[in-house]
Amino acid sequence: MNDRLVAAGRLDDDAQYEQGLRPRSLDDYIGQDRLRANLEVSIAAARGRREALDHVLLYGPPGLGKTTLAYVIGNEMGVPVRATAGPVIEKPGDLAAMLTNLQEHEVLFIDEIHRMSPSIEEILYPAMEDYELDIVIGQGPSARSVKVPLQRFTLIGATTRAGLLTAPLRARFGIVHRLDFYTEGDITEIVTRSARILDVPVDAGAASELARRSRGTPRIANRLLRRVRDFAQVRADGRISLEVARAALEMLEVDERGFDEVDRTLLRTIIEKFGGGPVGVNSLAAAIHEERDAIEDMYEPFLIQAGFLDRTPRGRVATARAYEYFGLTAPGRDTKLW
Ligand SMILES: Nc1ncnc2c1ncn2[C@@H]1O[C@H](COP(=O)(O)OP(=O)(O)OP(=O)(O)O)[C@@H](O)[C@H]1O
Ligand SMILES: [Mg+2]
Repeated sequence: MNDRLVAAGRLDDDAQYEQGLRPRSLDDYIGQDRLRANLEVSIAAARGRREALDHVLLYGPPGLGKTTLAYVIGNEMGVPVRATAGPVIEKPGDLAAMLTNLQEHEVLFIDEIHRMSPSIEEILYPAMEDYELDIVIGQGPSARSVKVPLQRFTLIGATTRAGLLTAPLRARFGIVHRLDFYTEGDITEIVTRSARILDVPVDAGAASELARRSRGTPRIANRLLRRVRDFAQVRADGRISLEVARAALEMLEVDERGFDEVDRTLLRTIIEKFGGGPVGVNSLAAAIHEERDAIEDMYEPFLIQAGFLDRTPRGRVATARAYEYFGLTAPGRDTKLW
């Protein structure tokens, strides 16, 4: 299920393209207007004072541009970005080494920051707050703690699950931003920009068509663009017209909403097996043979934001729009659920 075409997570062949398609400056970064405006101010202020930027936490569903933004921030601050990821850091010493190697104002980017082990996370507390490491030397009664000063650096943390962050860690970020799904207009702009970089001609109507089916997610938009480009090259004259885009997307089985088989199965299961809900996420996961995490991280955020699914205290509910999608009529319902 993980290599589905409209998965927001990164697939193997995305990697080689993502680098080239990544915007490098805030001006190139399309959409997320409020976030961008806020960051612009924070960055300009920090630069004006010749200080390190406050620590930044970026959270939101996969493929929306968290990693991209971390590098944009480094670039705008004029400093290198040292990157690692929560699950990769094995020993406290690994993180301590990265921290002591940071030069003034440099950025340490920790992806999947919710997946750090507690003993490693604790190193970050004094590092973020006071720019120092607390290192314990020796063992038993002779053990003593030594403070090692660090340069003033910026930690950028990214996570798809802000809810899994511990309170002390979260509290140490001065700048916290949530990334939202992009508007169709923004994704159209992203498709147009990527097409220009990939040097493939795409008609305006085709760009919007791709945008409509990209689940508000730049990574999916770029992936669909590449697949449609292949189709245009082999089955047409290389130009992505609206007709070509539609034919390609139909062949790829991405519908007008950007839904694929997993989305349809998920919604249909709630409607048919659970009377439209509410159904707990664990039961739902078992019924469609998916991991609970995958449902919460990958599938449902978009279905919720598109208005097909509701998350209520008693579980997931299929909305009237979901029924309509399948040509069904929603049963009357306790309005408190909506
Ligand atoms: N604002 C944007 N403007 C243009 N392109 C973007 C933008 N945001 C993301 N992209 C494109 O989408 C791709 C995926 O973005 P990115 O890797 O930053 O997502 P992410 O949020 O870090 O995802 P994950 O949670 O899976 O790590 C990038 O390679 C980039 O090409
Ligand atoms: Mg990322």
